Amino acid sequence: MKALVLAGGAGTRLRPITHTSAKQLLPVANKPVLFYGLEAIAEADIIEVGIIVGDTAEEIREAVGDGAQFGLKVTYIPQEAPLGLAHAVSIAEEYLGGDDFVMYLGDNFVVGGIRDLVDAFRAERPTAQILLTRVDTPSAFGVAELDESGQVVGLEEKPVQPKSDMALVGIYLFTPAIHEAVRSIEPSWRGELEITDAIQWLIDQDRNVRSTAISGYWKDTGNADAILEVNRSVLDTLEPSVHGRVDDRSELIGRVVIEVGAEVSGSRIVGPAVIGEDTVIRDAYIGPYTSVSANCRIEQSEIEYSIVMRGSSVRGVRRVEASLIGRDVEVTPAPPIPAAHRLVLGDHSKVQISS
Ligand code: DAU
Repeated sequence: MKALVLAGGAGTRLRPITHTSAKQLLPVANKPVLFYGLEAIAEADIIEVGIIVGDTAEEIREAVGDGAQFGLKVTYIPQEAPLGLAHAVSIAEEYLGGDDFVMYLGDNFVVGGIRDLVDAFRAERPTAQILLTRVDTPSAFGVAELDESGQVVGLEEKPVQPKSDMALVGIYLFTPAIHEAVRSIEPSWRGELEITDAIQWLIDQDRNVRSTAISGYWKDTGNADAILEVNRSVLDTLEPSVHGRVDDRSELIGRVVIEVGAEVSGSRIVGPAVIGEDTVIRDAYIGPYTSVSANCRIEQSEIEYSIVMRGSSVRGVRRVEASLIGRDVEVTPAPPIPAAHRLVLGDHSKVQISS
């Protein structure tokens, strides 16, 4: 059995951060989202992994390498444009050969791994296996229509009028029958070859498409609120540890991780929170559910329920909450006169000013 991990695509809902970096590499508790998926695949005893890459190929290759850090053998499969999930399967057909495979969307996050799921698939080998979960906004997902016995009878991608609130989770298990299905479908109204259409084709051919409802934790980390929420849930499981320096004017409360080379002085950190390598926290308050990546500076500021990516600084600002701060960003107070906000914002930025 192999895995096909999708790490191409455009990430429009996470602009401007994804103008310059891959959405699958956004850090959750200071680790890229994609790494949680790769770890789950390794844990399910799958070794050979094909990773679909697009415009951000370089960055993904640099982070994942040959996969040895996860115990995996990684092959990169370039996709010329994000032409759909089923398109990704079609360009991977040669790599996948006659093997069964799990397809894992690189921006999806599940708690509890995929081991049981993969074991059950190996043992029973339905033609395809999908996962469903109840969501509040089904029109943002692929949606399943089920009959009274719970059997999937129809699938629709991002329907305007969803037939249920059961959304497709971004983890699918396939036998090689999916390749014929992918060859048999046409691009959708949005110009993509949809995996939902390929699975629908299997259902129409009376093939055995099994669905399992999961009630555990799953998130598509495709927007800022979702990634902050995933960060919260991962930080909740943090084991406290201090590998950096914390002076005696500082206080750490609850589950706090201070990584190597970090320096905390005159500050109060209320966990769960993680402070990255070589980051400086000075005269600051770091509140619960905050991840500060490597090489950052937080000084004379308060920050809570936020993610700060590497190389950024937040200095002398009163309070920052529920924020996603990209790499090498500077947040500072404006000079007192004139009393005005001074902004240098990239395209598609979102700023809420409290004044
Ligand atoms: O997250 C679950 C949802 O994922 C499902 O409910 C939908 O049925 C499914 O179509 C998908 O919807 P999204 O709109 O979230 O897909 P997105 O375009 O964000 O792509 C998912 C991942 O696959 C992402 O990591 C980018 C990558 N990708 C996407 C496309 C379209 C590729 O590598 N190549 C592609 O062509």
